[in-house]
Amino acid sequence: MNKKNKTIWETRIKGKTAKTFQKVSSSINIDKRLFREDIQASIAHVEMLNKQKIINFKVKNKIIWGLKKIQNQIIKKKYSFNYADEDIHMSIEKKLFEIIGEDAGYIHTARSRNDQVLVDFKIWMNHSNGKLIKLLNLTINNILKIAEKNIYTIMPGFTHLKNAQPISFAHYILAYVEMFRRDKKRLENNYSSLKENPLGSGALSGTSFNIDRNFTTKKLGFKIPTANSIDTVSDRDFVLDFLYASSVCAMHISRLAEDFIIWNSDGFKLIKLNDNIVTGSSIMPQKKNPDPLEYLRGKVSSSYGNLFSMMTILKGLPLSYFKDLQEDKKIVFETFDNLIDSIKVLNEVLKNFSVNKNTMMALAEEGYITATDLADYIVKNLNYPFRKSYQVTARIVNYCEKNKKRLSELSHEELKKIDPNIKEDVIKVFNLKNSVNSKKSYGGTSFENIKKMIKKYKNA
Ligand code: ARG
Repeated sequence: MNKKNKTIWETRIKGKTAKTFQKVSSSINIDKRLFREDIQASIAHVEMLNKQKIINFKVKNKIIWGLKKIQNQIIKKKYSFNYADEDIHMSIEKKLFEIIGEDAGYIHTARSRNDQVLVDFKIWMNHSNGKLIKLLNLTINNILKIAEKNIYTIMPGFTHLKNAQPISFAHYILAYVEMFRRDKKRLENNYSSLKENPLGSGALSGTSFNIDRNFTTKKLGFKIPTANSIDTVSDRDFVLDFLYASSVCAMHISRLAEDFIIWNSDGFKLIKLNDNIVTGSSIMPQKKNPDPLEYLRGKVSSSYGNLFSMMTILKGLPLSYFKDLQEDKKIVFETFDNLIDSIKVLNEVLKNFSVNKNTMMALAEEGYITATDLADYIVKNLNYPFRKSYQVTARIVNYCEKNKKRLSELSHEELKKIDPNIKEDVIKVFNLKNSVNSKKSYGGTSFENIKKMIKKYKNA
């Protein structure tokens, strides 16, 4: 559009765009979020054009002055975004015409919206990646605080949600440090493609102007210019990488949420949520529902949906640019906003729950949870092959079940009846603390391992 409120293509395309299409095709309400990046990239672009003697000094300064004015207007909310302007790039260009006149037209020399939108988007994503990493660091610190307080908190470790082996609650919660560290790494890996500068690829084939892509690369904080102009304007792999990394992170959060929902339930009561992270029922006055956790569990679905939307947009899409690609911003912004909110809510949860240590311990006493310790004891002390010791232990568990006894309640005499070689010192393997602390293999739940890991994470 120019200042007379006409589209830039009106010389070529007679008649107005159908209103119905204009409305749905406009992305301004979504990509207006990129206004800073758009202005930043445009400034770098005109500086480069001037350095390369493609536009003169006066025009360059005029454009930069106008762009800064526009930025101020937007920040101060004195700017009106009109959906008829299609997108943020056209909107700013049109405004520049209004402010500085015909010279605004020099801004689009040697570039296309196809490379323009990518440079904006990559700058934004680079920054947003950093925000996520920062929030994940905060989360890891909060988890470490919880772990430090719960090294000796014993709980049943589950497989199939059945009591499996006793573990330390700290070891459980530290599993999430590993997950969030991997999430961080996935986001960090994305920097390598985000550091490639698309500006200068033009519509698809590059440009005949003597541009300096290294100049804009440096100016905008990229590392290198992208290498193939056709690939550049078609490529949304960096979008997929971001959506995948975000989805995995949201999935990790949903797993913690689910564990906590179960443990907070009346059947388990292993943890208690503070009043600021529960909600009430409209009819049942007694209820305290873990809605924030359910929110975290539910939100991952839109992340997955967005990842698959983008995969589907790209499937079979011919090279190079097509309007289909415009969906990418909506998809990414939604995923990003949801993930930021989810991580924040997760941190509220982490700061506002308490562990019912006695209930955890009591539940860990159930389900013959030290049976594997007994099997290991038999292997070590009776020198049986593990499979034989497994059978002996299974018979002991059957005996317990029949006689309604816990393993720890068996006398040496009873055990001897099943296997006469079992010695009296077997009793110690039924102690939960001993069991937890015996898992000294690297990465296991022993108290020393946990302390070492906390220290390692803290110094990382
Ligand atoms: N708003 C567009 C997008 O986000 C910018 C690129 C438009 N290019 C074009 N040739 N229509 O994809």
